[in-house]
Amino acid sequence: MIKTNRTSEAIEHMKQLEHSLHVPVLMKEAIDALELKEGMTVVDATLGGGGYTREIYQRIQPGGTVIAIDRDKSAIDRFQNTDPEIAKEIILVHSNYSDLRKILKDNDVETVDAIVADLGISSDHVEETNRGFSFRHDGPLDMRMDQNNGQTAAELVARISERDLMMLLQEYGDERHARRIAHAICVARDEKMIMTTGELSSIIENALPVRAHHQKIHPATRTFQALRIAVNEEYDHLRIFLTSAIDVLTAFGRLAVVSFHSGEDRIVKTVFRANARGCICPKELPICQCDHEPLVRLVTKKGCVPTEEEIAHNPRARSARMRDVEKLLF
Ligand SMILES: C[S@@+](CC[C@H](N)C(=O)[O-])C[C@H]1O[C@@H](n2cnc3c(N)ncnc32)[C@H](O)[C@@H]1O
Repeated sequence: MIKTNRTSEAIEHMKQLEHSLHVPVLMKEAIDALELKEGMTVVDATLGGGGYTREIYQRIQPGGTVIAIDRDKSAIDRFQNTDPEIAKEIILVHSNYSDLRKILKDNDVETVDAIVADLGISSDHVEETNRGFSFRHDGPLDMRMDQNNGQTAAELVARISERDLMMLLQEYGDERHARRIAHAICVARDEKMIMTTGELSSIIENALPVRAHHQKIHPATRTFQALRIAVNEEYDHLRIFLTSAIDVLTAFGRLAVVSFHSGEDRIVKTVFRANARGCICPKELPICQCDHEPLVRLVTKKGCVPTEEEIAHNPRARSARMRDVEKLLF
């Protein structure tokens, strides 16, 4: 009887994943920021569950072109299955958004009218137990968004030095117990390679003082975030993408980016501000000698955060922030 229940639960779970479980965050704000019109060419750099892509597609018809990218092949396959009508009308690309210039060139597109990116992983990643993104489900310690490329989290954890692991946890996870966790992981892996999310999660839980177990977030949250960012080299790809995106936008084209934690937002803010600067001469010079022109205008100076209502409906939205820029005519 128990076995039958488990089997039907598993079947139900698989059926759910045939459809995306992801609830888009800040979708109206990000897509309104793009100022879409009929006939535009628009890039959705992060297809995910397809929520943004569907909305963009509707808003630019007739005659518009959507290029939707995801580095996770399962996001592309799922969209083709769930939305075959839209999928055959748009350009779907399994690639990294840091390859934006090449993706456009391959599709004979020179400039685009608007670009949106909704960063990080989707709820589908968290729910798929075999992907290793979540400490809530036991599964292989993988964490790669593109399962055809790069090292898994298990391989990273097996090879990295204790000191580099500590720094990684501090830098990408803001983990205050980084030293303790890095040490516990290195002691455990010397006994046996850490292969599953469950093993890693218990090592972290056992390494932390009791008070750390009573925080709002699970003790393994920050370590999992840090490893995921490192495994997928997320910050490097994000920096390359932002610069390319500004470059390929047409005059008055819009770029909107939704981030989910301070590390991501800091990169978006820094790149946007650097490109919005005019003169870059040293302060000591009385007269500008650089003739440097800003490439973009910051549309909302501090970005935009979800309403209380959105957070109540979708708690994943609580740390999100959307920032947007407009390309200047030069
Ligand atoms: C938060 S989800 C996007 C959700 C989507 N806006 C929606 O409405 O369903 C982020 C997606 O971006 C993808 N992604 C993350 N980094 C990427 C990268 N460097 N290049 C391409 N896709 C990436 C992930 O695989 C994931 O599917």
